[in-house]
Amino acid sequence: MLVRVDFNVPMEEGRIVDDSRIRAALPTIKDLVERGARVILMTHLGRPDGQVDEAYRTTPLARRLTELLGRQARHLDDCVGPAVEAAVKAMPDGDIILLENVRFHPGETKNDPAFARQLANLGDLYVNDAFGAAHRAHASTAGIAEFLPAVAGLLMEREIKTLGRIMVDPPHPLVAIIGGSKISSKIGVVRSLLKRVDRLCIGGAMACTFFKAKGLEMGRSLVEEDQLEVARSLLTSAGQGSTLVLPLDAVIAADARPGVKVDTVAIDAVPANMKVLDVGPMTVERFLQTCDGAHAIVWNGPLGVYEVPPFDRGTDALAEGLAGSDAETIIGGGDLVAALQKQHLAGRMSFVSTGGGATLEFLEGKILPGIAALRDKTHA
Ligand code: 3PG
Repeated sequence: MLVRVDFNVPMEEGRIVDDSRIRAALPTIKDLVERGARVILMTHLGRPDGQVDEAYRTTPLARRLTELLGRQARHLDDCVGPAVEAAVKAMPDGDIILLENVRFHPGETKNDPAFARQLANLGDLYVNDAFGAAHRAHASTAGIAEFLPAVAGLLMEREIKTLGRIMVDPPHPLVAIIGGSKISSKIGVVRSLLKRVDRLCIGGAMACTFFKAKGLEMGRSLVEEDQLEVARSLLTSAGQGSTLVLPLDAVIAADARPGVKVDTVAIDAVPANMKVLDVGPMTVERFLQTCDGAHAIVWNGPLGVYEVPPFDRGTDALAEGLAGSDAETIIGGGDLVAALQKQHLAGRMSFVSTGGGATLEFLEGKILPGIAALRDKTHA
């Protein structure tokens, strides 16, 4: 079984900072091993640009996988070629191999059919469990499916089912919370979710662009001047009622650095020399009230500059509030997951997506090449 996983985990000086993506792939790997399959795992790590880069070898990933599984996952020094083919041929049933970074070959990101075929030659069936990389039309995520029967792994299936329900058959009342710094990167998801949710709360620096569009002064905050029109049109389309829920107060400071003097002000009282760096407590309360009675809550993007305390407080307080809620809490990947993990709150949510860009594109309603390439299991 050739299994594409997304083990693109954050690393610092060769050490894995967060192994959630490896853990998330364990059910598929264990299931295959228990059925006696020979499991060949493929992943990318970082962006090594089509050449061998020592910093992006998958060796530490094989080591961590071995620890987590309690059985050996052997690392190979390449992902194609005669030595790999020989090692694969010699695998006993139930054996696990992790290939070297597929992005060491330029054919991977170019989705080169010759490279995809070389990978495909290693196995009989292809399983894609790399939801986090499903928005990439690369050889190991999409092209390979031309050459082998291709199905979704258990993680991929869970991601598609959970996020897919929001898109196709949203449970109501449904509330979305979108944070992050830029409207330009979230506009697609905001537009798509506005069609599906009962309420949409906006946090993060992107809220400043909405307020500027409404005519408020935002001091030295990050405002995307070229998105003011977009913000205006979203405010209009959301209606007077309104589906969009904006912050009431803000935590401000001269800059996002540790030890800086901070203050909390009403959103219409941001001084000219200050930046909005987090939402204030009244906003958290307002967002929690909005979520009260919701059937499901989808949250993507932190509410403040969570990397620099105390500007992580709004995100933490909202997460604490949601962790105790009866609603299904769906966390849409990326930065927010890192923020929640810092406070050990990720485990208290109903579902935490392993995707960053992939989750956003999925919720935007885009077709992800890594999913489009798969067949329905029943036909495989
Ligand atoms: C991710 O971390 O979002 C995925 O692994 C995709 O990585 P990429 O942005 O380098 O393609």
